[in-house]
Amino acid sequence: MPWTRKHLITLEELSLTEIDQIHATAIAFKRTLSRSVKKVPALRGKTIVNLFLEPSTRTRMAFDMAAKRLSADVISLDGASSSTTKGETLRDTAQNIQALQADMIVLRHAAAGSALYLSRILDIPVINAGDGAHEHPTQGLLDTFTMKEHLGSLTGRKVVILGDILFSRVARSNIHALVKMGAAVTLVGPSTLVPLWFTDLGVKVSYDLRSALADAEVVMLLRIQHERQSSGHFPSLGEYTGMFGLNKTRASWLNPKAIIMHPGPINRGVEIDSELADGDRSVILEQVTNGIAVRMAVLYLCAGGQPELVMPTE
Ligand code: CP
Repeated sequence: MPWTRKHLITLEELSLTEIDQIHATAIAFKRTLSRSVKKVPALRGKTIVNLFLEPSTRTRMAFDMAAKRLSADVISLDGASSSTTKGETLRDTAQNIQALQADMIVLRHAAAGSALYLSRILDIPVINAGDGAHEHPTQGLLDTFTMKEHLGSLTGRKVVILGDILFSRVARSNIHALVKMGAAVTLVGPSTLVPLWFTDLGVKVSYDLRSALADAEVVMLLRIQHERQSSGHFPSLGEYTGMFGLNKTRASWLNPKAIIMHPGPINRGVEIDSELADGDRSVILEQVTNGIAVRMAVLYLCAGGQPELVMPTE
């Protein structure tokens, strides 16, 4: 199957084949990252603009790295230093970037739907680097890529996502990918942050942390996304940590082979204790490293490249 998508806006709209194609291409690019010369000429002559109108460390740097490893020219623009502070709209900003001859825009924005909106008004590819509480597709792709490196096929694998699901774009993207890949996903957290309607997406909802952890092969922690919550969804952070934080005692309920994931940024001592974030079962920094190869694959494919013919682990 050839790759036909120009934009990457959601994982909800990708087929399982397309997810596999991105992962297969990322495997090929990951190999190039361990060579002494890490650059490939795939996007030489192209200019990619990283338009980050919301804070980011990992995603922005990984997109920067990925573009540079593909030999593209990269320009990064953040909200504080852009003319959006003078009242310029997202539409005008993006159309000016296109007029400046950019070949692709990577957008992070606080508004759900912003990347889709740009994809409809621009001629160049738009990559969603996180739009409000909606989706963070490259995070879902790198998370599932990392899970496959550890577990092989995700069919039937038990994945627990624990924390603030309601406001999490990472949770939504992971759910869409994992369900397509055949994983058994359970969402756990306070009922105010894990409403039962999530079951409509093909996952289970549980408020019994101990039994969910006992079953899990992967546990993914999410931070409390205060920046998106309009009112208190639980009495205090201390109470949240007391009931749902992953500490040594709760980690002892896990299968000894279970891996611990977190998309970052971590709030140490809130959703996860430091000894677990830094411990043997944590793959948190592997996720960050895999973010480069996965984003190389996405940039390459959306710029018109074709996927590796060899399918990955499944
Ligand atoms: N995981 C993630 O999106 O991190 P950043 O906000 O630092 O990019």
